[in-house]
Amino acid sequence: MTLKVVVLASGTGSLFRSLLEARNDSFEIVALVTDNPTAGAIAIASSDGVVVRVVELQNFADRAEWDEALTAAIEEFHPELVVSAGFMRVLGATTLAAFPNRIINTHPALLPLYPGAHAVRDALAAGASETGSTVHVVDAGVDTGPVIAQEAVAVLAGDDEAALHERIKVVERRLLVEVVTRIAKHGLTVHDRKATIA
Ligand code: GRF
Repeated sequence: MTLKVVVLASGTGSLFRSLLEARNDSFEIVALVTDNPTAGAIAIASSDGVVVRVVELQNFADRAEWDEALTAAIEEFHPELVVSAGFMRVLGATTLAAFPNRIINTHPALLPLYPGAHAVRDALAAGASETGSTVHVVDAGVDTGPVIAQEAVAVLAGDDEAALHERIKVVERRLLVEVVTRIAKHGLTVHDRKATIA
């Protein structure tokens, strides 16, 4: 059985590319869904023959309508797992209800530290000596869902946001591929806000 995965991405798409490169008998990427018509991830998908759907927030009357359209765009591909890999919008109630405990996200910090869109900047501003990467199940909060895997990355003297983020992304790419591969082989369970791959 090959796990069907839909990837959500808004930007450059290097995490998406890592997933594409790691595809194997255990999981396949059935579509890329993005909110950003200029996302670099689109070109990566197209050059690999992966179907793309663009669901742009500004094309909808409000967030709820956008949320419904996003859900429909994902459901079209009947994924067993949805991977938010640099998707820069908070998912709405409709999307979460359609894929309960079946959406995971990668975040560039050791959650619960530094949630939100500026995790790397916030770690630097706090003077942290280490930060890292977290893969977690998505819930209704911002980066608050059950943690699946984490790995630390040291903050080095002289680090700026770009340099530190790039070192974190090296870890994020590997961790995300490992987690998706493990879920594909063993399944993901969530009980009492604890995520287990078994
Ligand atoms: C990653 O650090 C992800 O955690 C964050 O945005 C970055 C996406 O990088 N939310 P890319 O677009 O996959 O290169």
